[in-house]
Amino acid sequence: MATTERSYDIADIGLAEAGQQRIDWAERQMPVLAQIRERFERERPLDGITLGCCLHVTTETASLTRTLLAGGADVALCASNPLSTQDEVAAALVDRHGAQVFAVLHTDRADELADVIGGTEETTTGVIRLRALEAEGKLGYPIIAVNDANTKHFFDNRYGTGQSTLDGVIRATNFLIAGSAVVVIGYGWCGKGVAMRAKGHGAHVIVCEVDPLRALEAVMDGFQVMKAVDAARVGDIFISVTGNRDAISGEMFEVMKSGAIVCNSGHFDVEVNKEELDAITEETFTARPFVEGHRTKDGREIFLLAEGRLINLAAAEGHPAAVMDMSFANQALAAEHVALNHESLENKVYDVPLEIDNEIARLKLASRGVEIDELTDRQRDYLASWNQGT
Ligand code: NAI
Repeated sequence: MATTERSYDIADIGLAEAGQQRIDWAERQMPVLAQIRERFERERPLDGITLGCCLHVTTETASLTRTLLAGGADVALCASNPLSTQDEVAAALVDRHGAQVFAVLHTDRADELADVIGGTEETTTGVIRLRALEAEGKLGYPIIAVNDANTKHFFDNRYGTGQSTLDGVIRATNFLIAGSAVVVIGYGWCGKGVAMRAKGHGAHVIVCEVDPLRALEAVMDGFQVMKAVDAARVGDIFISVTGNRDAISGEMFEVMKSGAIVCNSGHFDVEVNKEELDAITEETFTARPFVEGHRTKDGREIFLLAEGRLINLAAAEGHPAAVMDMSFANQALAAEHVALNHESLENKVYDVPLEIDNEIARLKLASRGVEIDELTDRQRDYLASWNQGT
């Protein structure tokens, strides 16, 4: 699929200068991607490839887009979520970098799917769906599961979502976290980060889980664990990060304290069952930007943030650039891997090759001036043996 015309669908091209400033700021924290971009400029591994990217349109995504363009690709970018687009960034990408940016990607290109040589997937929710398609034999082309790279989810999902979710809650509400009860629903990679950062702010953190191992982990990490409906009675702030629907639902709304704040940082807004909140609501009102008040029929107030959409992207700026540096280094190198190896890949979901993961970790450490030891030959032999050390 070759692209010859520049087309776009963005809010305001006049925002390009402001967007470029923000991109420049983010790129100061993205040394790994910068090194990949320099190599891509020399080697042009993506020449002749068109990349359709569906990502949150943020400063960090702009840096990835620039890297893919430097590699020789045509790039068409569409927003992956309502409320997650930074309009000035979209403008800068179109105006300064020649990317095509759309509110949604065109749907009339299904006939061109046959030409797709492969894809990469950024987030947990996407990988789950692609693995489900693979299980049913319906995956149309090979996928590299970028989310599952260690240099992605250990850092992006945990530290990125942890910090930016709290940032979103605080920017939206200016609520004092210290001394409040923060209920984190889902103790996966994102949930661990959110719980850790809420604790750091002085909250009493309660975790709700459905997986016994992860619930046990939360207990041993020092958090109180209980059923969601019990947590609903005592929580001040509720944050879902499950990747599942109805994580915050009607039976919880029924018993929440007046003043409770509800938000979601999982990928889709179905985590908060808004219909069930509406069902007990007498009237809604805008309390402040991103804060919708629900006055319930029994006289309580429940505040829903950012329409139940990703709070860290809606009310804050998404993940810090330093963490997206690694996630998007994975994206760039995974795209190169597909471009170079697609003929030998089957219609399966593949892990990011371990060499790529390790290389990104090495580059990130080096960018921070951190040196680590290497195994000696003797140590390597010992670890590989079964009959030494007896
Ligand atoms: P994960 O799979 O590591 O963790 C999800 C956890 O939620 C699991 O432990 C699961 O047992 C639990 N869970 C599922 N249903 C539940 C329920 N009804 N009640 C309580 N717990 C439940 O997934 P991860 O990586 O933590 O991602 C979670 C979501 O966050 C996904 O939708 C992912 O796409 C999204 N995400 C959002 C980001 C952001 O910027 N806000 C960044 C990265 C991921």
